[in-house]
Amino acid sequence: MDISARIDTALCHSIEAAAGPACPPRLSEAIQYAVFPGGHRIRPRLCLAVANAHVGSDAYVVDAAMSSIELLHCASLVHDDMPCFDNAATRRGKPAVHVAFGEPLALLCGDALIVLAFQTIARAAITAPQRASNLLRIVSDGVGAPNGIVAGQGWECEQEAPLKEYQRAKTGVLFAAATMAGAAAAGVDHEPWGILGQRIGEAYQVADDLLDRFGDPDVIGKPVGQDVVNDRPNAVSAMGEKGATDYLRSRIEEVVDSVPDCPGKLKLRALIHEEASQILDAALRRRAAA
Ligand code: IPE
Ligand code: IPE
Ligand code: MG
Ligand code: MG
Repeated sequence: MDISARIDTALCHSIEAAAGPACPPRLSEAIQYAVFPGGHRIRPRLCLAVANAHVGSDAYVVDAAMSSIELLHCASLVHDDMPCFDNAATRRGKPAVHVAFGEPLALLCGDALIVLAFQTIARAAITAPQRASNLLRIVSDGVGAPNGIVAGQGWECEQEAPLKEYQRAKTGVLFAAATMAGAAAAGVDHEPWGILGQRIGEAYQVADDLLDRFGDPDVIGKPVGQDVVNDRPNAVSAMGEKGATDYLRSRIEEVVDSVPDCPGKLKLRALIHEEASQILDAALRRRAAA
């Protein structure tokens, strides 16, 4: 099975239970709508790449790890687009969940996806309790307070938000969870894997900030100019266009050197290099559209 199919199959298995016949039909539809079709799926791909760089990874736990992280990411997008946060009308090239289904269902859909992520890990605990327990800690740290997505969005409710802490919390920490979860699913020490994900995530958010300022909404599938409209701290406002681009390049250069030793290190480095180049290319391609 190819990587995209494997990720989507794992997600299907996760949402089967929650969005099944017993679920109120419109909530079920909203859950499906928020997860499929996907976007970049970069977090589960990173998780899988790290797991595959080891021997002895547990396929069931890997699926749970990829799926839980992508479900949490999808939930964060649903909530982030709501009028009380970024008030964005489109996502992944279609109406945002609150536009398509209304605010109450968007809120509930995000809630359901968050719970589902942890239900998915709980199911993996039946066959691999130790790995699943590590996974639970890693994933919950990636989304909760004080360091994860909730904290990242929480910074938006302060008078002042330090840019690096804000971006690390809203984006970097879930990427770190993705790489660490891959290691945990393979049964190895996950701690050394955090920095790789953290760096990719930080670069990813700087690239996203550049696209928000200079990108084409038809290409990125979501509105542009949001960071200025909503007065969000962002790399372009803080460093200027050139500063943010130079910073992105320097972060990208560090990424490949952050791959820890592991049996599949060479292959993983090549794969990470490819991912990093795509992030940079997407951010630079904006000029043609701007
Ligand atoms: C968007 O993430 C939110 C950020 C943290 C920048 P993605 O660009 O990964 O969103 P999808 O999953 O591809 O839609
Ligand atoms: C969002 O950051 C990060 C989340 C936790 C959802 P952004 O607000 O910049 O993401 P986009 O641009 O809406 O995808
Ligand atoms: Mg947003
Ligand atoms: Mg953005």
